[in-house]
Amino acid sequence: MCGCTDLPYRRIARDRGCGLAFTQMVKDDALLVANRRTLQFLDTAAWDRPLGMQLAGRDPARLAEAARRLEALGADVVDVNLGCPVRKIVNDGCGAALLREPAQVGRIVAAMVAAVKIPVTVKMRTGFASIEDDQLFLEVARQAAGAGVAAITVHGRSREQLYRGFSNQEAIAAVVAAVRCPVFGNGDIRAGADAVRMIAATGCHGVMVARGALGNPWLYREVEAAIAGRPLPPRPTVEDRAAALAEHFARAREYYGDYLACILIRKVVHWYSGGLPAAAALRARANGITAPELFAACLEFFREAGHRAAHADADAGELAGALGDARLPSPQPSPAAAGEGDAARPVGAN
Ligand SMILES: Cc1cc2nc3c(=O)[nH]c(=O)nc-3n(C[C@H](O)[C@H](O)[C@H](O)COP(=O)(O)O)c2cc1C
Repeated sequence: MCGCTDLPYRRIARDRGCGLAFTQMVKDDALLVANRRTLQFLDTAAWDRPLGMQLAGRDPARLAEAARRLEALGADVVDVNLGCPVRKIVNDGCGAALLREPAQVGRIVAAMVAAVKIPVTVKMRTGFASIEDDQLFLEVARQAAGAGVAAITVHGRSREQLYRGFSNQEAIAAVVAAVRCPVFGNGDIRAGADAVRMIAATGCHGVMVARGALGNPWLYREVEAAIAGRPLPPRPTVEDRAAALAEHFARAREYYGDYLACILIRKVVHWYSGGLPAAAALRARANGITAPELFAACLEFFREAGHRAAHADADAGELAGALGDARLPSPQPSPAAAGEGDAARPVGAN
């Protein structure tokens, strides 16, 4: 995910169960001229494996050369973006624009597969305009598969939808039926049970998790357990969340220095504050972080707000128990409800 899955993020994610992770998308031409910022997006480390790197581009020869560079930089998988909805990318004929050009997708994949030894994959959306009007995405998937992709990840929204509505599982199932390579279902996986439902509804071979793991890096283990039919790991406590946030800041300081770390951590606090009654106040504080001491004060506020919310939940639970009110949601979905899958599947982040 652009602006999210940098090296500090991936360390937090991997230590909490993320398997295959991806760096942020880079443009092929920026990589080929060794743009300094682009190379920083691809920065990696020995613990950062297995690692996918993703390219945006449209010229087969240039993408093939860029794929060679990524292989040399240590990528275990190279992915082509066929879903980025951003105007700047689409106007260059890249990202989601390629959903209207199946034959070009075939040429791109064939050139990249011939250029590298590592697996080449694609990540696509289910159409450029609306899914109903535009069945071209199935032809895109067929062309990619025919040219030798190792796997296809499908986010079940069209470019036009951006992030509105829901990820269309019927459309993902149609891709599964159209190709023989593994397909990863993507979109709206925020709990283990969502991954189980995605697999049951589409027949996909695994899932990719994106926004759901922002502020919840424990999601990877939950998804893995749910798919394998194992009991779900315990939910993170307030202290677990505070510790992850503190670690994120410490790693960001080490990696970027204080100035950039203070800017970056603001959005990370936003991620972790989701669901807290004091989220608005916390976010306002986060926006004012200009020095490490202000982060420390914000973290303290986070802890206090988290503990207050946990006590309020516990009180509500006790009251519900006393009243025999079964309507209040349990804090964790039961393992049985979430564990209907049959086999362990790979879990990835992007
Ligand atoms: C901030 C942000 C950045 C993203 N960057 C990328 C990217 O670089 N490459 C990509 O293939 N998808 C990217 N995506 C799309 C996600 O990978 C994913 O397909 C989409 O968010 C749906 O999955 P989710 O519901 O699990 O978030 C990005 C999404 C967001 C919200």
